[in-house]
Amino acid sequence: MSLDAATKPQERLAEALAEDMDRVNGMIRARMASEHAPRIPEVTAHLVEAGGKRLRPLLTLGAARMCGYDGPHHVHLAATVEFIHTATLLHDDVVDDSAQRRGRPTANLLWDNTSSVLVGDYLFARAFQLMTETGSLRVLRILSDAAATIAEGEVLQLTAARDLATTEDIYLQIVRGKTAALFSAAMEVGGVIAGQDAARVQAMFDYGDALGIAFQMVDDVLDYAGGDATGKNIGDDFRERKLTLPLIKALAAAGAEERSFWSRTIEQGRQEAGDLDTALALLDQHGAIAATRAEALAWADRAKAALADMPDHEVRDILLDLADYVVARVR
Ligand code: IPE
Ligand code: IPE
Ligand code: MG
Ligand code: MG
Repeated sequence: MSLDAATKPQERLAEALAEDMDRVNGMIRARMASEHAPRIPEVTAHLVEAGGKRLRPLLTLGAARMCGYDGPHHVHLAATVEFIHTATLLHDDVVDDSAQRRGRPTANLLWDNTSSVLVGDYLFARAFQLMTETGSLRVLRILSDAAATIAEGEVLQLTAARDLATTEDIYLQIVRGKTAALFSAAMEVGGVIAGQDAARVQAMFDYGDALGIAFQMVDDVLDYAGGDATGKNIGDDFRERKLTLPLIKALAAAGAEERSFWSRTIEQGRQEAGDLDTALALLDQHGAIAATRAEALAWADRAKAALADMPDHEVRDILLDLADYVVARVR
């Protein structure tokens, strides 16, 4: 491992929680298989073996440990959270018509949309089986609420796409749903399983919510300006005509000629070669990328503030650094 990689907060978190994470990975491998339908392990292995940062299960393990939990169920919850995440990625790459994920061709490209949708459904169902093993109705409610909120966020995004009147408020609502809901639930169940009081559980939730929002804002920057390092398609959001924060900000500053460019490419969907470069130049010209990063930074600060009253703990220190890191990340 390079020194640089070793210093990334998510690597430090993985190191601090290595034993727990080994058990989570073991549980993921054991539960992603199916004896009855060989297509399932083929597709899940393709995605799982490609890696992925495992950020959300690390949050669950970290929150549980930071809150003093010493039982076995944080492992089930962390695996549940990663299953929900993996299921949403399979579905997301179908609806976004994406060709690359985790540096590999997507499952919808290698197999087909039907396989991605059905294997995604299977993983959702496996996630629900796993969380019942904790015996806690409360964590079941939190994670099933999160699954519903993620789907709502994705559908809201669908209806906001192509609509140049999409506001920053609507964008925030979408991002809170499709991304931050799982981050906040991942943290919250860690606090709940550890038997924390309402204020502590709220602090866990607030950290995850703000971190998730910052994370997605940066994802939306990287979709324009991330290059190969992201391991994903660049320009997906432009091609799919999504009103992400950089675009909303550039639109607010656009003159008549620029508005007609956005109207043609986003509203009407008549995109030509070179349009993505033009879009990127316009975002740059209006400082829309920098302004989006600045907002992500403000949310990262909110995430850190949520942990202000937590007692000293190794995990707390790493989570504080992680908030800074998600804004600086390139993957
Ligand atoms: C991708 O999440 C989906 C978004 C919310 C942007 P990650 O970037 O955490 O995906 P992996 O698991 O590391 O591949
Ligand atoms: C991320 O959506 C949220 C979910 C996967 C539900 P995006 O479409 O923005 O994420 P990437 O960029 O494909 O990872
Ligand atoms: Mg996508
Ligand atoms: Mg998407």
